[in-house]
Amino acid sequence: SFLLFAVVFLLSADYIKNRRPGSFPPGPPALPIVGHIFNLDYKRVHVSLTQLAGRYGDVYSLRMGHRWMVVLNGITVLKEALVTQGDSLADRPDLPLQHDIAHGLGVIFSNGNTWKQQRRFALSALRHFGFGKKSLEPVILDEFTYCVKDFNSHKGKPFDPHLIVNNVVSNVICSLVFGHRFEYGDEKFLKLMKWFGDALELEASIWAQLYNSFPVLMRRLPGPHKDLQHIWNNVKDFIGVELKEHKQNWDPSDQRDYIDCYLNEIQTSKGQADNTFDEENLVLCVLDLFLAGSETTSTTLRWAFLYMVKYPEIQAKVQAEIDRVIGQSRLPSMEDRANMPYTDAVIHEVQRMANIVPLSLPHITSKDIQLGGYTIPKGVTIIPNLTSVLFDKNEWETPDTFNPGHFLNAEGKFVKSAAFIPFSAGKRLCLGENLAKMELFLFFTSFMQRFTFSMPPGVKPVMDFRFGITLAPFPYEVCVTSR
Ligand code: HEM
Repeated sequence: SFLLFAVVFLLSADYIKNRRPGSFPPGPPALPIVGHIFNLDYKRVHVSLTQLAGRYGDVYSLRMGHRWMVVLNGITVLKEALVTQGDSLADRPDLPLQHDIAHGLGVIFSNGNTWKQQRRFALSALRHFGFGKKSLEPVILDEFTYCVKDFNSHKGKPFDPHLIVNNVVSNVICSLVFGHRFEYGDEKFLKLMKWFGDALELEASIWAQLYNSFPVLMRRLPGPHKDLQHIWNNVKDFIGVELKEHKQNWDPSDQRDYIDCYLNEIQTSKGQADNTFDEENLVLCVLDLFLAGSETTSTTLRWAFLYMVKYPEIQAKVQAEIDRVIGQSRLPSMEDRANMPYTDAVIHEVQRMANIVPLSLPHITSKDIQLGGYTIPKGVTIIPNLTSVLFDKNEWETPDTFNPGHFLNAEGKFVKSAAFIPFSAGKRLCLGENLAKMELFLFFTSFMQRFTFSMPPGVKPVMDFRFGITLAPFPYEVCVTSR
């Protein structure tokens, strides 16, 4: 009878503490203690969350253990929350794993004054190197020439493009932050790439979930989550060595790269109130640029190749447009994009279907807000469900089928869509959006200009995704032949 009493007591306490508050958004009935942990299919969380919107509406709530979350769906609600009420939703929740690695520094997981200053600086530096005199355009085109050599070395035989595409995209970030690229075989570079690969895999694993759910326990227990600390420390040390070299031959009148600009900012902001520019933040910001800017862009390119082998007739139309506008005797340039509506539409459609960051990154309310007729109190985790918008049947003619026509009008001109939000929206909008678009256009167009992609004979492309840090294709092999 004592056991029965204990169970009844526990369940009542849980009911009183964890029940859904009155004006809170609705949601499915919760199990005691665990809440809705078992309502999700962890191989396709974004699909589960989108289905729940069909049942409970565009603003609904879930409880993960004792933590309440509100999931936002559809373009109207997302814009209302992230843009119109953006000031109340600019913060990130404090996740134990990210906290123990970044200590509240950098851009992606920082908040308040640190986030404001670091984001503003990163944006201005990206503008400087992205599109000004020191444009990354030639850097990207130059990197492509190294990739051509690698592609040609396979002589039309099947190979997995994953590693080389990762290297190519990571080298663009290396050029941006360090001022130089690495040879693909360089041991230091290979190590850096392996650390990032291993870290991203661990970040998406059950260990990361356990760490964030039971931080006090997990900080004491051994396990793969401990490797994660170790790996990120290696990356920080790697960046530290580059930083040391930059300091040794630093010339304020010649800012070669992101680190040079940052060193300058440390000097000029010295003594200012609430100044957050120091070497520790520099290292974290550089790490964030790698973290946010490599895997995302390279995964998108891997999807682009897959869609082109699945739809050879679309690939041929892209190539015909390239031949007409650029020809074979010069490299593509960003100026060509305006004259290439079909290619532009194909890239947008790849990004829509690939949906590589399906739930954006989490936000948290910094004060009570009203949304969709409900009250969401301060301190509730907000999940912007980008999937619900990118596959909304009210927004797209054939939401589940690859169709460049989604971005073309009757005359074949490129048309924007308000529901195209793979970079999210509002105060935390992806800060690498312009760089990502530049890389996607220049790399994709260069690949299509030089090569034709096909599946190895007898093999069908698998379009299914792997749920992880990004939605990525399963490993695959392609054949590339020179055009
Ligand atoms: C944040 C998507 C490439 C840097 C984000 C977010 C998304 C996103 C969905 C979260 C926004 C939010 O919290 O609501 C993408 C996609 C990319 C891409 C789809 C490529 C196809 C890049 C690149 C860089 C970058 C190339 C930098 C070089 C960042 C940073 C953040 C971010 C620093 C955090 C912004 C903040 O917290 O204020 N990105 N991204 N991203 N992205 Fe990207």
